Amino acid sequence: MACKKCSNKWTIASIASVILVCVIGLVLCFTLLEDPQPGCEQDAVCRPGADMLDYLLSLGQISQRDGLLVTWYHAANSQKDMRAALESNIMILEADVNIEGLNTANETGVPIMAHPPAIYSDNTLQQWLEAVLSSSQKGIKLDFKSLKAVAPSLDLLRRLTENGKVRRPVWVNADILKGPNVPISIEVNATQFLALVKEKYPEATLSPGWTTLYVPQFPNSTYTRAMVEKMQGLVGGLSQRITFPVRAVMVRAAWPHFSWLLGQSDRYSLTLWQGASDPLSVDDLLYIRDNCATHQIYYDLFEPVLEQLLTDMLELCRGLWQPVSFQLQAGPLGQSTAGVVAKLLAASPRATVTVEHSPAESSYTSVRTGLLAARAVDRTRVYYRLPQSDREDLLADVGRN
Ligand SMILES: *[C@@H]1O[C@H](CO)[C@@H](O)[C@H](O)[C@H]1NC(C)=O
Ligand SMILES: *[C@@H]1O[C@H](CO)[C@@H](O)[C@H](O)[C@H]1NC(C)=O
Ligand SMILES: *[C@@H]1O[C@H](CO)[C@@H](O)[C@H](O)[C@H]1NC(C)=O
Repeated sequence: MACKKCSNKWTIASIASVILVCVIGLVLCFTLLEDPQPGCEQDAVCRPGADMLDYLLSLGQISQRDGLLVTWYHAANSQKDMRAALESNIMILEADVNIEGLNTANETGVPIMAHPPAIYSDNTLQQWLEAVLSSSQKGIKLDFKSLKAVAPSLDLLRRLTENGKVRRPVWVNADILKGPNVPISIEVNATQFLALVKEKYPEATLSPGWTTLYVPQFPNSTYTRAMVEKMQGLVGGLSQRITFPVRAVMVRAAWPHFSWLLGQSDRYSLTLWQGASDPLSVDDLLYIRDNCATHQIYYDLFEPVLEQLLTDMLELCRGLWQPVSFQLQAGPLGQSTAGVVAKLLAASPRATVTVEHSPAESSYTSVRTGLLAARAVDRTRVYYRLPQSDREDLLADVGRN
């Protein structure tokens, strides 16, 4: 009798547990279904005209308003390159827009993703935007190589924006003035470009540049005050954000002019870019960084230079008595994680590193190597800011190894 009661009790208890597990499962299920793809949440930073740093900060992809933390993918044009870019942890996709069959009998007027001299592509701008907007939260920078591509592209952006699809910053770039060492006019007509942007998509961040040529024989030939003032004359009256793309190797020598330009509006920033064979000096970059605010400069540079810049910035911290705490994104570190973490820890015996990962951007597997590499460098001075599931996966991996 007593026994029967006893077994009844256990039956009830186990049925109750099963029900409880089911309820928890259902609740979890609904919570996940409600928000299948974490979108941009703060309206103020989920707009084409939003500040890129504020946007990335709101997604947790950067930890402070510092352009040095932002990462770039170049020429994400063909289907294949676009896919690779979308699968990476990189924060901003930069792609080139041209017109299909430009200046031939086959010219169609359709904006395509191609860098001149290419005038054909397996990817139209429409396909590109649909893929990028639906499957990522990456920032967008479109580089217009021909005036003809501007109007149809901005019309497309306008339509997508009105349909609520463009909840992220968009930069529109074109070289609209003649710059250093360029003898002929190959720039996009400034008046017409700015008029089209004003008419069709005035909210985007404007990225107006100068055509440039770097000539190693004339290392001091750079942007002149007249070039910089002419640009300010063209865009000074506009109201959107503006980032001026400038060739990094030439910026130090023209720094007084760019410093003046940055002083003209708090909507202005510079985007330093590097030609493939430009001999960029880290000293020059440190000089520039020391002479303006961290949010005023983006660094669209090749990785070895960036790593060196990071290392040299640490030199400045060496010998400090106070504890220094560095924050790193697990994603962008990739292969170089161990090296970067070791350098940061070497800055001071009291330095610590916190490795962060935002699940919105990529899966645990894509940052696993980096996290394990960071842990292998030091167990007491490396901290992790991870979502719970990543933490569990990491603990499991660490236990296994
Ligand atoms: C136009 O396209 C046709 C068919 O794709 C091609 O054979 C022809 O060479 C193209 N013409 C020019 C001027 O590119
Ligand atoms: C740009 O286009 C405008 C309007 O069509 C024209 O008046 C101007 O001469 C052009 N500028 C240059 C530098 O070609
Ligand atoms: C470039 O400028 C630097 C600093 O003003 C100067 O020392 C150097 O001699 C110049 N180089 C050339 C090739 O003119």
